[in-house]
Amino acid sequence: MSIPHISEDNFRALIAENFTPSDEIRTPERLFGRQKHLTAIDRALNSPGRQIFVYGDRGVGKSSLAITAAFIHTGSTSEPIYVPCGRLSGFSDVIQAVGNKTIDIVERFEKPATGRGLNLNVPAFGGFGVTAGTPGSSAIPAPTTIDEALDVIRYVAAKRQGRLVVVIDEMERIEKVEERDKFAEFIKNIPTLGNEVRFIFCGIASDVNELLNAHPSAGRILETIQLERLRHDAL
Ligand SMILES: Nc1ncnc2c1ncn2[C@@H]1O[C@H](COP(=O)(O)OP(=O)(O)O)[C@@H](O)[C@H]1O
Ligand SMILES: [Mg+2]
Repeated sequence: MSIPHISEDNFRALIAENFTPSDEIRTPERLFGRQKHLTAIDRALNSPGRQIFVYGDRGVGKSSLAITAAFIHTGSTSEPIYVPCGRLSGFSDVIQAVGNKTIDIVERFEKPATGRGLNLNVPAFGGFGVTAGTPGSSAIPAPTTIDEALDVIRYVAAKRQGRLVVVIDEMERIEKVEERDKFAEFIKNIPTLGNEVRFIFCGIASDVNELLNAHPSAGRILETIQLERLRHDAL
């Protein structure tokens, strides 16, 4: 490839510096042309009870926008939680994965020198705690109801300082309608978790209703952001 005034090496360096193929962007400095959306997310996350749903085509930059926004809005001492949905995962697996992210962090920072099991039971949560065991075997149980799912998130929030931001990505991979309905039901209840817990959902769709099956109250809670492909001049 030849571009006037730029050597091939310089061109390569420029590309390497500004693009991270298959690597989502995490910081606003590198996220081009998305200020309008970051502002919309900012406004929504400063309104009580509002959550975010980013949708659009494959590769338009949904994950990058979501992760960047999550880093901006998370509490200063903790990273946001990122969970991609899998083809075989259902609602319960995804919430369990969110919970297990906390175990990883706890183990990283609080691993007891004795090597004994972590005490992760939080009595305030009605005994729906964590199975204590040897380090590495502690796990959040898969929630069987929406209420238990909310408890998992409360547990995660209690383990964090400041605001908890959870990114649930690749929602289009959840194929079963009943699993999508559980998400819609869950979303309806997120505001009961308080203002220090916020969710950013992402998925490939041309309309959010494709992913949530037209759940009206979920729509009231969600700030939906349709992402278009970046224009060349933004890059
Ligand atoms: N705003 C942006 N500015 C520059 N590059 C971007 C931007 N958004 C995404 N990219 C790049 O485009 C590619 C696809 O982005 P990604 O966030 O993974 O898209 P999606 O989640 O919609 O599939 C990634 O390599 C990412 O680094
Ligand atoms: Mg993505």
